[in-house]
Amino acid sequence: MTSYLDGIDALRHEFIPASDYIAEDLPRLERERLWPKVWQVACRLEEIPNVGDFVNYEIDTESFLIVRVSDDEIRAFYNVCSHRGRRLKTAYNGNVAKGIACRFHAWRFDLEGKVTYIPNEEGWEGCQMPERDSLALIQPRVDIWGGAVWLTMNPDSPPLREFLSPAAERLDPFDLNDCRTLWYKVLHFPVDWKFVLEAFVEAYHTEGTHPQLNRFGYTSGAGELDQGIHSTHGSYTLVPSDDLDPRQRWHERMKSLSEDLYSMFLEPCMAASERVLTLPEDSTDADVFTNYWKWHREEIEARGQKWPENLTPADMASTAWQIFPNTSILPTVDGGLWYRFRPDPEKPGHSIMDVWALARFAPGEEPRPPREVYATLESFKGQCPFLEQDFANLLAVQQGTRSRIWKGVNLNPREETTVYHFHKAMRQYLAED
Ligand code: FES
Ligand SMILES: [Fe+2]
Repeated sequence: MTSYLDGIDALRHEFIPASDYIAEDLPRLERERLWPKVWQVACRLEEIPNVGDFVNYEIDTESFLIVRVSDDEIRAFYNVCSHRGRRLKTAYNGNVAKGIACRFHAWRFDLEGKVTYIPNEEGWEGCQMPERDSLALIQPRVDIWGGAVWLTMNPDSPPLREFLSPAAERLDPFDLNDCRTLWYKVLHFPVDWKFVLEAFVEAYHTEGTHPQLNRFGYTSGAGELDQGIHSTHGSYTLVPSDDLDPRQRWHERMKSLSEDLYSMFLEPCMAASERVLTLPEDSTDADVFTNYWKWHREEIEARGQKWPENLTPADMASTAWQIFPNTSILPTVDGGLWYRFRPDPEKPGHSIMDVWALARFAPGEEPRPPREVYATLESFKGQCPFLEQDFANLLAVQQGTRSRIWKGVNLNPREETTVYHFHKAMRQYLAED
């Protein structure tokens, strides 16, 4: 029996012991010591626009109903009937404006969680029936940041803003709360959630996994580790090439990203990049960037979208944020990608990844895209070529790390610091009862 706690002292900048991934007690430790203690993303706000709309957020063996109870209030409820424990709602979403009814014995609850109807209540006559108040649905704490609803099961957790600090402050200039979902895809992987997460928190894999980008420059993954339990990495450097001048290099890179990602680099970005080609032939990288930045704003505003007023070019240096424990945000001017990683409660060692592509829209033009679920990697084919390159590694990593000779991960201490940092933060939670 391998225990996570046996490898607790083995973590180094350049090494993560195998027990951090495959220890037999890890699912239990995560269930008891991680998920109940942190703030986590439950859903996007635009998924519940009307009073009574709910989303069923599942994390490991827990399930929560995230309900819009009024125009300006969201509540969450443990999705557990106080009668005999049935999950109240098993669908992903729906509307409970008329009350939350349990279909087992027809108990009913209002949007404050109070029980409002119990059939044949007189049956308790002469017996001790629990106080009605004690039968109310249990509510975890909820709060909103970045256009998303977050929840924590931990009554003692610091406020959301404090938990997210300093990531929230660094991400605020992107005005993610002004963005809406462009598309939302949910993938099921036969791979542990930590392996999936770690494929998205460093840029060291660019050369091997996204070689098309090497033509235009390189991404340094050197991370910033002074972000509390969170971390960030990024900074892309365009390198000179023999056959492309600075204008063409900028344009070709944006085009490549836009054509492979179906997100992050959208119409305004591409329109501004086209305009870059009209600059004089002897333009420098600095000329290109200055004009692109100006034109990007013009293109956003020409479409009736809101330019993130406080955003500066310096904010663009961090291209990816890892928000502990299971959220990654890649913000761009046009919107961004937002990932959430979770264990699959039905299948040990399997995981679920949510991918929200966010974009800016003119008022009234926000779409209501469906939530698309992909049960296999094969079924995802053609949905996002760039992500497919990342996904192609996952199964093979899971398979390779099952070998009897696998002892752990040998990290590049500069380029993969964020992976180390994630495991360090995991220790803070999993080692403590
Ligand atoms: S379990 Fe819900 S009403 Fe009986
Ligand atoms: Fe990648």
